[in-house]
Amino acid sequence: MAEYLTVEQEGPVAVVTINRPQKLNALNTATVMELYQEMKALEGNEAVRCVILTGAGEKAFAAGADVTEILKHNEVSGTIFAQRGQKVFRFIERMSKPVIAAVNGYALGGGCELAMACHLRIASENARFGQPEINLGIIPGYGGTQRLPRLIGLSNALYLLLTGEMISAQKALELGLVVEVTPAGELLKRARELAEQLAEKAPIALSLILKAVNQGMSLPLDSALNLEAELFGAACNTEDMQEGIQAFLEKRKAQFKGR
Ligand code: COA
Repeated sequence: MAEYLTVEQEGPVAVVTINRPQKLNALNTATVMELYQEMKALEGNEAVRCVILTGAGEKAFAAGADVTEILKHNEVSGTIFAQRGQKVFRFIERMSKPVIAAVNGYALGGGCELAMACHLRIASENARFGQPEINLGIIPGYGGTQRLPRLIGLSNALYLLLTGEMISAQKALELGLVVEVTPAGELLKRARELAEQLAEKAPIALSLILKAVNQGMSLPLDSALNLEAELFGAACNTEDMQEGIQAFLEKRKAQFKGR
């Protein structure tokens, strides 16, 4: 039973909530490891087609890694600390079903890095994003120096990483860090709508898109195109491809089965 997370499943959509609101959902090691366990369970749960990740309370998605833990680290233990978080976030990024970060407040440091490891980000209008590690004399260790430039480009990423400034949800939308901003109070409703929309798609095709993009982004273009062609072939080998195209031709809604 998780201490710092809650997981609710409604139909094909699971909602994982980081539940440590008195510490603004700061990611202590226990929370990170619970996240790993729960995400592994959801990855293996065939009934779940899409996952929403959010934070408890109205103030924070997650206000960073827990700084009280970081204070104790030396060179060796600090490296291990970063590697452990990176492994969990990489697992989320490599999941075969879409993970949507519903960012309901501060997403700072490790919180911003966690949101960036998700496949889509939507934010409530009171959300704030940033990598303030520089103000603590450290650097991001859960992927921030790598995923931020990939998501918003080198210039804007370096500005945020070097200044440690926080940006609004609106600015995050302009930079492409989030795909949508919702009024406060409507975030989870919108996240569920989006999750249900994705849950109706062909699950194997969704997983192949995630794989093509994830793996392809770190390959040279020709290798990435080879990968795409192979995965396209895999999609053609599914019952869902037959169903999707037949349904289109018969002008009806496709019923995908994940086969
Ligand atoms: N790690 C551990 N505890 C944290 C935390 C973090 N990253 N972020 C917030 N908290 C704790 C605070 O210490 C405080 O605990 P307390 O009530 O026992 O004193 C509680 O959460 C509430 O935070 P507080 O700072 O009082 O809220 P605020 O509304 O005044 O400020 C922030 C909100 C997000 C601006 C501020 O908490 C902050 O700057 N947090 C750290 C952000 C950061 O540097 N993250 C990167 C870490 S690598």
